[in-house]
Amino acid sequence: MTNNRKLKEWVAEIEALCQPEQVYWCDGSRREYDELMAQMKACGLATPLPKRPNSVLFRSDPSDVARVEDRTYIAARTQAEAGPTNNWIDPAELKTTMKGLYNGCMRGRTLYVIPFSMGPVGSPIAKIGIEITDSPYVVVNMHIMTRVGQKVIETLGDDGEFIPCLHSVGKPLAPGESDGAKWPCAPIEQKYIAHFPEEHLIWSYGSGYGGNALLGKKCLALRIASKIAAEEGWMAEHMLILRLTSPAGKAYHLAAAFPSACGKTNLAMLQPTIEGWKCECIGDDIAWMKIGPDGRLRAINPEAGFFGVAPGTSEASNPMAMATVRKNSIFTNCVLTPDGDVWWEDMGVPCQEGIDWKGRPWTAASGEKGAHPNARFTAPAAQCPVICPAWEDPAGVPIDIFIFGGRRTQVVPLVTEAFDWDHGVYLGASAASEPTAAALDVKALRYDPFAMLPFCGYHMGDYFAHWLAMGDRLGAQAPKIFYVNWFRKDAGGRWLWPGFGENSRVLKWMCERVDNAVGAQETPIGSLPQPQDLDLTGLDLASQDLAELLKVDRSAWLAELPQIEAFFAKFGDRLPARLRTQLDAMRTRLNA
Ligand code: OXD
Ligand code: MN
Repeated sequence: MTNNRKLKEWVAEIEALCQPEQVYWCDGSRREYDELMAQMKACGLATPLPKRPNSVLFRSDPSDVARVEDRTYIAARTQAEAGPTNNWIDPAELKTTMKGLYNGCMRGRTLYVIPFSMGPVGSPIAKIGIEITDSPYVVVNMHIMTRVGQKVIETLGDDGEFIPCLHSVGKPLAPGESDGAKWPCAPIEQKYIAHFPEEHLIWSYGSGYGGNALLGKKCLALRIASKIAAEEGWMAEHMLILRLTSPAGKAYHLAAAFPSACGKTNLAMLQPTIEGWKCECIGDDIAWMKIGPDGRLRAINPEAGFFGVAPGTSEASNPMAMATVRKNSIFTNCVLTPDGDVWWEDMGVPCQEGIDWKGRPWTAASGEKGAHPNARFTAPAAQCPVICPAWEDPAGVPIDIFIFGGRRTQVVPLVTEAFDWDHGVYLGASAASEPTAAALDVKALRYDPFAMLPFCGYHMGDYFAHWLAMGDRLGAQAPKIFYVNWFRKDAGGRWLWPGFGENSRVLKWMCERVDNAVGAQETPIGSLPQPQDLDLTGLDLASQDLAELLKVDRSAWLAELPQIEAFFAKFGDRLPARLRTQLDAMRTRLNA
């Protein structure tokens, strides 16, 4: 328990509103985790997995399988503050609606109070959140994904600040009623994932899944934290963090932003194919960065676990993730195999039959997917065989390199180095992906600046300005910025670049650029390696494929400019003039 008055008052207020049967303060202990798991196993919600020590499978409701972007709101005081990329509702109106929903919503359930730290407890970059939830599934996931417990309460002290995160699955129980094995949630039109950025407050209702319910992740660590970071002069980004160490023992720290489904977790746990280089993972999804006493940008991973997409994860694509999830893991919406293991599409091992994510008997021959495409694993980061020894360093690691990227089968080369910070911010702001299954049509591009489109908690034009201001403060100590594209195809639809561990060759070039130890050629879109600048030893890559990967097609780029211009126009007069200058300069260089 706590003597923090604000916290006690808030819990009492929510208890009165939601009317749970009881209130339970989480201590983050192993005993607590085991007891909640035992309860969920007993009612059939969690299925033990004899093949994986201390691991279980959950199946969610088919209506509750992913983040719900169209039910996610930035309820800033004015629509202008939320900006053109966020759903906005008047905060007073939304509070009235949601209070109506919260009224009595925890009847028959336990209200859990989860004190959690995003980042190592006590780190100058960390923040404390308190999640109130009526979902034991959320509690056990938060145990893995954040640092939960009494130490957090102690750090909070009597008058410390915390970010209140209120969550309910939105399914009160009638007297005598229980969920049994059924995943509780509310219908879609009652789901709300709401952020009140001026109050640094999160209210989530109706969903029990992932980023809708584990409020430390996208809601706190990105949407609310991005707003706090802009106010306080730091950065909360949708970025993996990794350390690359050269054969000479020099460590480089890289932070990389990619939209969902571009292989972020794979890159975070990359196994280099180049001789003597070592890669270690610090985080796979979120980076919080502050300028340290030495003037360098220092990054922590605010999370303590991985909430990764299971389908596609295999010994070939990500052996380190496969090793991480061997024990002490929670799986959601995977196939249950006859011998009591989990399976998913593209796991790299065959599975003929099992129970599918909807709980029905399933056979591979049916042609239907057995796992939901957004099936997930929740696993402790400490279990990753290549977790970096510095991953919990409260001071963070000094970032040398920022990487942006997207999924582009055409036009965008393998790697581009920004000329300077402003140009790098322009590259991040104009980052785009093709929808995975779309035709090769540039019209289908989805702009996802800094991979933050669904996660920026305020006006994105102001967010761009914040990036520029951070660069001004960092000056000569600013990280170098690069743009990558692992996804180029030739005209026949064949991948040009092998990807995965071979991406280390591109990362090595970046590190050598930091040290001014390797060449690059200036082009209208940025500096690119020439073939001899990349270490391609032992790689079977045809020279014409390499030439295509490093080609700058002026007319194709000129054809893209109107789309970038149209996207930037959304931000009106909040688009920093320095980004417009970058766009104009690029056009001039392309026309030269
Ligand atoms: C995620 C996402 O789940 O970015 O991490 O969608
Ligand atoms: Mn993410």
